[in-house]
Amino acid sequence: MSIPIVIDCDPGHDDAIAILLALASPEVELRGIVTVAGNQTVDKTTRNALKVLELGGRADIPVVRGAAAPLRRPLRTAAHVHGESGLDGPDLPEPSAMPSDADPADWLEPGVVLVATGPLTNVARLVQRGVRIDRIVWMGGAIAEGNITPAAEFNAFVDPEAAAAVFGSGIDLTMVGLDVTHKALFTRAHADRLRRTGRAGRVVAELSDFFQHFHEERYGFDGSPIHDAMAVAHVIDPSLLETVHCNVEIETASRFCDGRTVVDRWHATSGTRNAHVGVDVDAARFLDLLHERIATLP
Ligand code: RIB
Ligand code: CA
Repeated sequence: MSIPIVIDCDPGHDDAIAILLALASPEVELRGIVTVAGNQTVDKTTRNALKVLELGGRADIPVVRGAAAPLRRPLRTAAHVHGESGLDGPDLPEPSAMPSDADPADWLEPGVVLVATGPLTNVARLVQRGVRIDRIVWMGGAIAEGNITPAAEFNAFVDPEAAAAVFGSGIDLTMVGLDVTHKALFTRAHADRLRRTGRAGRVVAELSDFFQHFHEERYGFDGSPIHDAMAVAHVIDPSLLETVHCNVEIETASRFCDGRTVVDRWHATSGTRNAHVGVDVDAARFLDLLHERIATLP
């Protein structure tokens, strides 16, 4: 019995690979995509989501254009990581499908898992509407260092107020942060293996080729963390990640730490344990799963 999921994302190279992983995995059934401004403007992330679904042969899956800006702050994008289009690198045809005017709230029936891989603006709005969400798996945050500032991870940094609303909602929430995504680097060797498997494999390799520039320059990595795909992989196979149930608060009023996910990893406070936080990952098995599934796509 596959698990129904909705992906809320800002494609983005790793979002795109996460969507393809979901399409290639029988353990999950992708009901719909909601896009959000983050890596790029919401017009660009929406066009990119449509392109990726077409590449995966699933242009029938609805894409709803979500929030164009954070709840209260001006939008910060990441062209330095994902390029002007948000999906620089491969040459993907313009999508033939149009965005849907569905209400994503209608997709969130009991048992559906909301996999969020961008800023949490849309998710916070659903919470504020009182929409029932059974479970959220979010790629974002970090126990340790950030990636857009020393203190904050990008998805949390773009909309800290939204993250605070979601972490304060009481919804079953798993946080897949940089502490685990940075442990599983998709290297050039991984890309070269995938390049020969089919069109989708070639595109993923080309996405990785571009994504690698930032990670090599910033961190000296021989490879890239495919952050968002790890959130989908966690739904597919929960044994890949080790998580700890702990209190997480979001900094929203700090000169240096805005957007920081303050993770009480060792329960030093009496804060409500409101998130299952990823603390370790079986990197080899995650990367094998990614290769094996993407390689099945045409
Ligand atoms: O910090 C990494 C996260 O920010 C990923 O989801 C990436 O796509 C960007 O949205
Ligand atoms: Ca993302």
